[in-house]
Amino acid sequence: MGMISTSSALTAATKPLLTAKAATKAGKAPAWPLTVARKLGSEDAVEVLTRQHRQIKIGFLRAALPGPLRRRNFERLMRLLAVHEAAEEAHVHPVARRALQHGRELAARRRHEEKQAKQLLVALWHTGPNGRGYLRRLNEARRAVARHAAREEREEFAALRTALSAPRLRMLGAEVKLTQAYAPTRPHRWVNNEAANKLAAPVLGPFDRARDALRHRVAS
Ligand SMILES: [Fe+2]
Ligand SMILES: [Fe+2]
Repeated sequence: MGMISTSSALTAATKPLLTAKAATKAGKAPAWPLTVARKLGSEDAVEVLTRQHRQIKIGFLRAALPGPLRRRNFERLMRLLAVHEAAEEAHVHPVARRALQHGRELAARRRHEEKQAKQLLVALWHTGPNGRGYLRRLNEARRAVARHAAREEREEFAALRTALSAPRLRMLGAEVKLTQAYAPTRPHRWVNNEAANKLAAPVLGPFDRARDALRHRVAS
């Protein structure tokens, strides 16, 4: 996944993003400054999320490979999953809940699946790539995540594409991408809804990233 690595992406984008949100609330298409559009791209939320689903699918296959790269592939997969689910739980499902017919039930079903998948991912995280039962746990998590992703694409993303305007979908895509800059990088069992994600991200995100940096420094 192409991570937004510079903090300038946040500072440059947050203010215009708020302006864009206000414009959308007022019923106008948000005016995107060129610099922000360049940094965040022009993908809409469905494009970003389905691309991430493909990356996660490949990530599971790579994390199963034996050899010296297994730990790196495992950590990349955990990060991909944590950031992706954080974006969906904090931004995408809340929009689906409000904008779609039967959105409340649909979002509740997705959150339930995410909660179950997160339990498997937490167990997988604690097992680690060298732990006993790693491949079995990895496969369990892969199946749960694949089922969940297929339902999201079929039921939620398709409906969002019909219900939201193109500018609103692009703005949601930018929100999803921005999450990469600050979300937690590993699964946390109790962070599984909009409020928990929004409250946890400023604390757990930097904490996880500091732990990642420390571990990489020790490993190198
Ligand atoms: Fe999800
Ligand atoms: Fe997803």
